[in-house]
Amino acid sequence: MNVLVTGGAGFIGSHLAEALVRAGHRVRVIDSLFSGKRANLEAVRDDVELIEGDCTNPETASRAVEGIEAVFHEAAVPSVARSVKDPLLSHQTNPTATLTMLEASRNSGVRRFVFAGSSSVYGNSPTLPKREDMETRPLSPYGVGKLSGEHYVRVFASLFGMETLTLRYFNVFGPRQDPGSPYSGVISRFITWMLQGKTPVVYGDGEQSRDFTYVANVVDANLAALEAAALGGEAVNVATSRRVSLMELLRGVARETGQPLRAQHERERAGDIRHSLADIGKAERLLGYRPRYGFEDGLRETVAWYRTQPLPAI
Ligand code: UD1
Repeated sequence: MNVLVTGGAGFIGSHLAEALVRAGHRVRVIDSLFSGKRANLEAVRDDVELIEGDCTNPETASRAVEGIEAVFHEAAVPSVARSVKDPLLSHQTNPTATLTMLEASRNSGVRRFVFAGSSSVYGNSPTLPKREDMETRPLSPYGVGKLSGEHYVRVFASLFGMETLTLRYFNVFGPRQDPGSPYSGVISRFITWMLQGKTPVVYGDGEQSRDFTYVANVVDANLAALEAAALGGEAVNVATSRRVSLMELLRGVARETGQPLRAQHERERAGDIRHSLADIGKAERLLGYRPRYGFEDGLRETVAWYRTQPLPAI
């Protein structure tokens, strides 16, 4: 198939682009290189067509979807904390980009559109695990943007018959996640600090928890979404279905890196949710999804990868 991965030079997008190439698809990537890197696509450099451009630009979006049958929309500025600092940037790079890609896809006759959603849409509702039919009440501009993207994805199915799906990712981690910004994913930061013999910063008491999901599981869910029978705008959790607190995570990272456990606690972040855990029954029913990697397996692979990398001072 001819497929497009937006944000395909980024952390999740590049893993997905690589897997799609290996599965025999013709892969095009559009990436602004705002946070994506050409180096992430090194292994498939000769097999991927890279368009450097912005998903919010309608002309660029049209060019990107030309001749494409399925779109995987991964492009975003993915930080909750950053969206609290800069809601307009978050809006532009999340819902505006999603709508622009959907509209370009519709005009060009794209059949299938798979959207990278987020567990942040649930907010702090007390019931765990989160099921897709539960209330959504995001706590940050980022979560609002991801929820708005979901609604666009759903109405493009009902209005225009596009086969669409939202995959609600739960805290994805793995190789290539960039630890270099204060807004980077917590696992990439904890590993980087520990490997440098520094003390990780924990926002709040560290008892908040997440359903950390290894990136290969997310790739599996996307590949399954390409094969799944009729899709009509559903939203589906993609996770491991195991809840790990930050202090537990820190112990795991200490163990894998061979470093003593230490932590410097700072004030809790605004917009942070307390606990997150997914029910993944719907993903299994709709996509045949089951996480191939548990949290520990993923953590081991991830630490092994960071050991091979030059690490930035953070
Ligand atoms: C993450 C993703 C987001 C995704 C969401 C749901 C990132 C950067 N964000 O948001 O895209 O939609 O999951 O899947 O991957 N923390 C520390 N120290 C640090 C950094 C973070 O203690 O140095 C804490 C945060 O305050 C938070 C937790 O770790 O409580 C997780 O933070 P983060 O990795 O930024 O992810 P989420 O905000 O959960």
